[in-house]
Amino acid sequence: MSSRIAVVPGSFDPPTLGHLDVIRRAASLYDQLHVLVVHNPGKEAMLPISQRQMLLEQSIAESNVEGDIVVASWSMGLLVDYATDVGAGVLVKGIRSQIDVAYETPMAIVNRHLAHVETVFLLPDPAHALVSSSLVRQVASLGGDVSPYVPPVVARFLDTGARGI
Ligand code: PNS
Repeated sequence: MSSRIAVVPGSFDPPTLGHLDVIRRAASLYDQLHVLVVHNPGKEAMLPISQRQMLLEQSIAESNVEGDIVVASWSMGLLVDYATDVGAGVLVKGIRSQIDVAYETPMAIVNRHLAHVETVFLLPDPAHALVSSSLVRQVASLGGDVSPYVPPVVARFLDTGARGI
């Protein structure tokens, strides 16, 4: 594959500063990056996919992440089908802990078997190592301040109570 295209997939429910860190660093490694909001049937969502995509687009724009970045969503089937369609040979995921390794390893193996799509893991910046969307969802739902963990546009969105539409 001549041009190096990668996909950063996830639920992004909501996008966090940890996600943005992975996106920024992955964008510097590949010619084109597809940040893909994917429905995870194993998780009950807080935000609709279209809302998550909008928040990701605004977070990326607001933080001046450099690179050729496409934000999209996918609920039509296998993640690797999207990757193959856009010519991406690599998925990029952030890995914060051994729990993430255990969760991500089977998916990485299956995705490679299904479509020869490799998975590259990036270690988090220590500042974001403990940030997760599930933590943000819980703090937000109980009325806490999530601004230390999410991009400003996401903090503003959650603060106005616009979620749950
Ligand atoms: O942010 P998440 O919830 O950990 O992301 C997980 C996600 C959505 C990337 C994963 O569930 C996924 O890849 N779903 C797409 C369906 C698929 O392709 N499944 C087979 C290989 S795992």
